[in-house]
Amino acid sequence: MKKLFMANWKMQLLPHEATNLASEIVRRLGRGVSNTEIVLAPSHDALALVAEKIADTNLMLGAQDCFWEDKGAYTGEISPKELKELGCKYVLAGHSERRGKLGETDEMVAKKVKAILRSGMTPVLCVGESLEEREAGYTEEVLRREIISALEGLDLDITDMIIAYEPIWAIGTGRAATLADVELAHGFIRSLAGSKARIIYGGSVDSKNMSSFLRAKDCSGALVGGASLKADEFEAIVRSK
Ligand code: PGA
Repeated sequence: MKKLFMANWKMQLLPHEATNLASEIVRRLGRGVSNTEIVLAPSHDALALVAEKIADTNLMLGAQDCFWEDKGAYTGEISPKELKELGCKYVLAGHSERRGKLGETDEMVAKKVKAILRSGMTPVLCVGESLEEREAGYTEEVLRREIISALEGLDLDITDMIIAYEPIWAIGTGRAATLADVELAHGFIRSLAGSKARIIYGGSVDSKNMSSFLRAKDCSGALVGGASLKADEFEAIVRSK
């Protein structure tokens, strides 16, 4: 399976900053890395600018979210069709910041996953337990609920599906999961998601810990937040062996 590294810039950059960072990443990684897909996911306002910067390179465009309808009276939303026209290949669905801070439910995430696929893009479904859930022994229950609801009705034979295991306690905390945590969770996700989906890890990934995740039995790359805001750090993550 090809590795995938997706930079999730969240709401951290102004459009001109996203453009500059994209240029710097093009300089370092624009020619690509073998057997690896590299995706930049700026906020919606910078998608067109970043698309222009990465045109004619081996980098790909991703979005951090989308709505589930193609068109209509949905003030403030962005549709999968719009993202597709802007050149997006990957779209996050159900990031824990959206589930936790904006009330996104499993049902909404499931609709987003289907809409992304329908528009010919690849969903990056984010799943993962909170610290309380983990400590109470509910990790598998949470993963099962989030994955079963999102994949319900889909053919598990499709290859254009990414599942990002992102334990909430590891996001932006500097406390990444261990190799053992990742193997356990990814193994469980694999048992639910079929043999074709790629499973990646996210949560305080940096250039120092990335190689350990790549040693995990079933880890095809990473969803990178904070560390993707520095071009040299992101390059080192992508080139990890
Ligand atoms: P982080 O974020 O790398 O800053 O922990 C990851 C994510 O939220 O996707």
